[in-house]
Amino acid sequence: MGGALNIVGCGRTGQTLARLFQDARVFQVKAVLTQSLESAKQATDFIGAGKPLSAMHEFEPAPIWMIGTPDEAIGDVSRVLTRCNWVRQGDVVFHLSGALSSTVLDECSEIGASVASLHPVQNFANPEVSVGQFAGTWCALEGDGAATQILRQAVEAIGGQVIAIAPHQKTLYHAGAVMACNYLVALLDVSLDILRTAGVSREQGAALLAPILRATVENVIEQGVDNAMTGPIARGDIDIVERHIRELKRLGPESVSVYRELGRATLAVAERRKELSRDKIGQMKELLAGD
Ligand SMILES: NC(=O)c1ccc[n+]([C@@H]2O[C@H](COP(=O)([O-])OP(=O)(O)OC[C@H]3O[C@@H](n4cnc5c(N)ncnc54)[C@H](OP(=O)(O)O)[C@@H]3O)[C@@H](O)[C@H]2O)c1
Repeated sequence: MGGALNIVGCGRTGQTLARLFQDARVFQVKAVLTQSLESAKQATDFIGAGKPLSAMHEFEPAPIWMIGTPDEAIGDVSRVLTRCNWVRQGDVVFHLSGALSSTVLDECSEIGASVASLHPVQNFANPEVSVGQFAGTWCALEGDGAATQILRQAVEAIGGQVIAIAPHQKTLYHAGAVMACNYLVALLDVSLDILRTAGVSREQGAALLAPILRATVENVIEQGVDNAMTGPIARGDIDIVERHIRELKRLGPESVSVYRELGRATLAVAERRKELSRDKIGQMKELLAGD
C-alpha cells in the first residue's frame, strides 16, 4: 500500500489511527493541522511523523486526506479543502464520524475526489492506550468504491475488521451503537443509585455488580440475547415485578419509568422465547405499561 496522508483534526481518534497507519507503513503521515500549532505538534510527536501546521495553506498535495475533527466541523473542513484546491481530483478523503455518512463530503466528490466515512467502533479516550487496544476493532465503512477499497485494506493492515454500512443507515447504525455503550453506563448509574438507597454504597454496588455484569455481557456475546436473558420478567414472576414497582415508586418517577420502559423491552425478549403463557404476558404488559 503506502501513500502520503494529510490530516485535518487529529485528537484522540485521529492520533490513534495515524500512529497505527504510520507504524504499519500503510500511509506515511505528511502533515497535521489542528486548531493550534501546539496540539498539532503534540499529535505529530505521538505519531512519530508528519509536519505540524498552523494554517490550511501550508498543506502540500497528498493522495489521502483524513478528517478527524468533531462531527460538526467536518462539512466546513471539506468545503475549505475543496474551494482552496487542496484536495484534487483522484484524492481519497475520509472522515471518522459514526453518525454522518460520506455525503457530508459532497463538495470533495464534486471535484472528482473519492470519499468515505470510516467509523471505528471503539472508545478512544487516550491514544497511548488505544493504540494497544485497536486489534480486532470493527470499523463501519461506506463511500465510493475506490476509497472503500483503499480503506478496507488499510484497516485490515492495522489489525481492524471492516463492516460495510449503507450511507442512508449511518445515523441509525450510530444510534444503535450509542445505546449499547452509553445507555448501558447510564443504566448502571440508575442501578447504583437504587442500590445506594437500599444501603449499598456506590463503590460497594459497583463491586457487587462486577462479576454478574461481566458474565451477562459475555453471555450476550457468546450465546446471544435470547439465551442471556434471565430474571423475574423473563420468568413471568408477576408478584416480584409488582413489588419492584411499588418500592421504586418511593424513589420517584424516574427510576420507575426506566424500570418499566426497559421492562417492556425485556418482555419482548421473553415473548420471543415463547416460554410464557399469553395470560402471563398480558398481565406483565399491563404492569409495565404504567398507572
Ligand atoms: N473518541 C472516540 O471514542 C471516537 C470513536 C470513533 C469515532 N470518533 C469520531 O472521531 C472524530 C474525532 O473525535 P475525537 O473524539 O477524536 O475528537 P477530539 O479528541 O476532540 O479531537 C478533535 C481534533 O480536531 C481538531 N479540530 C477541531 N475543530 C477543528 C477545525 N475546525 N479545524 C481543524 N481541526 C479541528 C482538534 O484540534 P485541537 O486539539 O487543537 O482543538 C483535535 O485535534 C469524530 O468524528 C468522532 O465522531 C470518535
